[in-house]
Parts: sequence; structure tokens; C-alpha cells
Amino acid sequence: MSVPKYSTACCFFSSQFTCLFVFFIIVAGTTTPCLAKIITNNTTRRHRQVSVDYYARTCPNVEQLVGSVTNQQFKESPVSGPATINLFFHDCFVEGCDGSILIASKQGSRELAEKDAEVTRELRVEGFETVMKAKEAVERKCPGVVSCADILAIAARDYVHLVGGPYYQVKKGRWDGRISMASRVEPNIPHANYTVDQLIKLFNSKGLTIQDMVALSGAHSIGFAHCKHFVKRLYNYKGNGQPDPNVDPKLLNALRMYCPNYGGNLDIVAPFDATTPFVFDQAYYGNLQKKMGLLASDQALVLDPRTKPLVQEFANDKNKFFQAFAAAMDRLSLVGVKRGKKHGEKRRDCSMHA
Ligand code: HEM
Repeated sequence: MSVPKYSTACCFFSSQFTCLFVFFIIVAGTTTPCLAKIITNNTTRRHRQVSVDYYARTCPNVEQLVGSVTNQQFKESPVSGPATINLFFHDCFVEGCDGSILIASKQGSRELAEKDAEVTRELRVEGFETVMKAKEAVERKCPGVVSCADILAIAARDYVHLVGGPYYQVKKGRWDGRISMASRVEPNIPHANYTVDQLIKLFNSKGLTIQDMVALSGAHSIGFAHCKHFVKRLYNYKGNGQPDPNVDPKLLNALRMYCPNYGGNLDIVAPFDATTPFVFDQAYYGNLQKKMGLLASDQALVLDPRTKPLVQEFANDKNKFFQAFAAAMDRLSLVGVKRGKKHGEKRRDCSMHA
């Protein structure tokens, strides 16, 4: 095993109130303003919905523009793939898919931004770089139109496909968020030692099902984790000086070589998928069945009766995994979406509020 090192409508209430307002004018007999109101209402509705062709008129080439950047980045630095997919997941779980993770902390401000939370600081820079470069490319052609949140969602999809995963359509129309707080990160990002109960609870709280959770965990088919996330499993799992019995002995030995119990290099990472670390495939699930999951939270999926049948299904059928993953990414991409000026903004620079 090689262990590489790397330095719909518009707001429901307002649409209801608008309807009441229109109705009132009709009763009063003034038809012209009424018509104007209906037109305004329809326009608002169209603009506020997320849809695949949201930018059809305002920035029809947005996907190609982002695609030119993700293709290039992937060639130059393949770790941009896992980095951006993970960045997207973290963005969506904290405050919703609203680009809040991209905001830089303000100097002198009392509260740090999400980006500077301990967990987020661990994310690779390549994900942030991808979004910044893609935003620059998009701004040159369509200034002030496309949100950073949409760019991140498109880039994550591009990379899933570039590493061999499914291609799926990305709905667009997210606005960027106005809130980015480091303190919101910790309670919203799952830990490597979470139980299945804790995982299910957290994913359910985002409107995602058990199937979504197991399918999305398949993103660990690619990418790497630092030793600190699994070192306890290798030496002292339950505080009794013994390793986790659910780690394959060969994998255990290999991981111990790179991740000593004390004093190891903090930058060392190990691949999630020891068999095909650079290909997005169903091998991740097969590995779980062979006790070759890297994190306790990954391995737990094959030990719980609620998730085990899904692990088996995805391990045996790549198409089912791909379909479930694409559907789950679509649902993930809609978590906490902001629409309209009240809750959102359109940033020119993804790292700064508008
Ligand atoms: C189910 C609960 C999850 C847990 C406990 C978890 C935990 C982790 C941890 C601890 C790392 C390693 C961080 C590091 O050492 O730098 C990681 C990396 C990663 N995670 Fe997850 N994760 C979960 C779900 C997800 C989901 C839903 C996705 C995407 C849809 C995802 C995508 C990734 C990717 C691609 C990496 C590799 C990043 C890289 O190599 O740069 N994870 N995850």
C-alpha cells in the first residue's frame, strides 16, 4: 500500500400575501396594476427557483467556464478532486450550500469565519483555489451573476466525473450566504469516531436519509485522511491498549508504519480506499466488508443492520451506487439553499461578503 505525503416558487408567505393583494385589487376593480403585479410575481418566482437552466439567459456558458478550470486543475493537481468534493460537503453541512465556507475572517472581528474553524483549516487549499479560479473565469464573462455557492456545486460535480464517478445535472440558483461563523462548524461536521446513530441523526437533521448517507460516504472512495483521525483504532481503540478488532491485520500493520502511536509526522495521510485510491468506484464498500475501512465511522456502516444491506448492495452493483450517489449529491446540494436578497448575496469575490 502506498501512503503518499502531501506538503419555487418565491417565498411561500410572500407569494401568498401577493396573491391576497392581487385578489384585493381585482375586487376593487382596478385591473391594470393587478396585471403588473401578476407579472412581477411570476418574474420573482422564476428567479428564485433553483433549476438546471437557471443561468440560461444570464450566463449560458457557466458550466463550460467552470469546466475549463476543473479540467486544468485536475491535470495539474489531481488532489483538487477530493479536496473540492470535501469542501462542498463541508459548505453544505454548515449553514447550507451557500459558499459560507469561502469567506475569510475579518481582521479584528470577534468571531472567526467558518474557514478558520479547526476542522475547516484541515481542508486542502486546492478546493478553495479551484473555486477562486473558476469564479474569476466566470466573472470575466458574466460579471456579478453567478453565485460562489453554485460554482462550488458545479466544480464538485465536475471532479466526481473526472475521477471516474457519475455525471449528474447540477441545479443552480443558490445565493451566497451572509453568515459565516467558525462556531457553527464543530456541531455540524461528523467526526471520524461517530456512531451510526450519531451519523444518522446528523444527516437526518439536514433532510438526508440513511441511503443518502451511505451513498455519500462513497466519496471516501477517493482522498486521504490524516493519522489523527484513525490512530486510536491502531493502538488503543477502547482504552484497553488493543487495536480495533475490525481493522484487517495487514492494513493495521501498514497503517502503523506510517502512523505511530506518539510523535508521528502530523502531515502524513493515508488513502481511504487502499485498493483504488485515485478512482471513484464501489471498491470503498468492498473494503468495508473486508475490514479495510480507514475511519471508525466508515467501518461502522458495515456493522449496523440499518446500513449494512446498503453497503452490500453498493459493493455488488456499481450502477446502483452511482445512481444513489448522484441522487444524494442532488439532495445534498439543496440543503439550506438561500434565495433572494433577504438571506443571500451575490459576491464578486468569494472570500468577501458583498
Ligand atoms: C459520513 C460522515 C463523514 C465523516 C465522519 C467524514 C470524515 C472525514 C475525515 C476525518 C476526513 C479526513 C480529513 C483530513 O484528514 O484531512 C475526510 C475526508 C474526505 N471526505 Fe469525509 N466524512 C464524512 C462524509 C463525507 C461526505 C458526505 C463526503 C462527500 C460527499 C465526504 C468527502 C470526503 C473527501 C472527498 C475526503 C478526502 C479529502 C482529501 O483528500 O482532500 N465525506 N472525511
